[in-house]
Amino acid sequence: MKRVRIGLLGCGTVGGGFVRLVERERSRIRDRYNVELNLARILVRDSSKERPGVDRALLTTSALDVIDRDCDLIVEAIGGVHSAGTFVRRALARKRSVVTANKALLAAAGGELFRAASRNRVSLGFEASVCGGVPVIAALRRGLAGDTIERITGILNGTSNYVLCRMEEGLSFTDAVARAQELGFAERDATLDLSGEDSAQKLRILANVAFGDGEVRKASVCGIGGDVRHVRGTVVRLIAEARRVAGGVELCVEPRRFTYDHPFARVRDEQNAVVIRGRAVGDVWLGGAGAGASPTAAALLSDVLECVRDLT
Ligand code: NAP
Ligand code: HSE
Repeated sequence: MKRVRIGLLGCGTVGGGFVRLVERERSRIRDRYNVELNLARILVRDSSKERPGVDRALLTTSALDVIDRDCDLIVEAIGGVHSAGTFVRRALARKRSVVTANKALLAAAGGELFRAASRNRVSLGFEASVCGGVPVIAALRRGLAGDTIERITGILNGTSNYVLCRMEEGLSFTDAVARAQELGFAERDATLDLSGEDSAQKLRILANVAFGDGEVRKASVCGIGGDVRHVRGTVVRLIAEARRVAGGVELCVEPRRFTYDHPFARVRDEQNAVVIRGRAVGDVWLGGAGAGASPTAAALLSDVLECVRDLT
């Protein structure tokens, strides 16, 4: 039996979902993979907050208490670039594999962090950073590794899709955003979701996996606001697209209008969908829950199991 001690950074929507999922899946994972998962310590800002299903004895407000303790790997679910970046760098330097849901950090410093992971011979798992529970990174890195990817097109932000769906039903933009925040889909700063920046961060991560370090020849980002008009028989979706072009890649995030019969029009609420066009395989469609506690936790846990396979 392999015993694995996990240090968890953050216990909000995603971190809390991860704690509950580990508890729920522990015995199946023990039986199936011969791996005993244990949460060693959990970093939060405020240890007095109510956290259903979380053992208070594991909470700490000291990051070093988690990272420098006797744990085998770190799961980062804090968000943002600064503190999370400091903690992830320290964990990698101390030869801990890291699993993260943080696309903002990867979009800002992914290259440096992946080099640090490789230098220290540990893994940096990031399935949860794009499309929540939809295994799009695994599809690109493994299932489609034999093909040349020409284009990736998708709905990569659950909050904006949720907001657009509520607006189709007549809710105001402001009320729809407030609901997405209550449900835990939105970023701490929801303008990241609505401005298209969150989609752009995820698109950069996907483009990097699909096209390598190809130069970005053109990039444009446009989000959604309260001025989305209702036009009978159509809906608006916030689309992110990365295309291979001569000498590099072009990235674009923009609202596009679709008739009801288009597959993107049928992507509802916080769901995401991605179409990956491979030169040999043609179009591959992936879709499912793109935000929320349980789907994102499932992606984190699958990366944890991947890291565990690499632990000696
Ligand atoms: P959240 O609900 O705001 O949770 C953040 C957690 O981190 C909280 O437990 C908070 O502590 C803790 N924290 C924040 N800054 C800290 C600091 N400087 N030191 C110690 N603890 C700190 O955020 P979330 O929605 O779970 O998102 C976490 C990450 O997952 C982000 O990178 C986000 O982009 C990504 N993500 C989110 C979703 C989603 O559906 N929400 C889906 C995919 C990916 P307190 O609880 O004490 O405040
Ligand atoms: N705020 C993000 C979204 C969370 O709504 O898609 C999932 O990455």
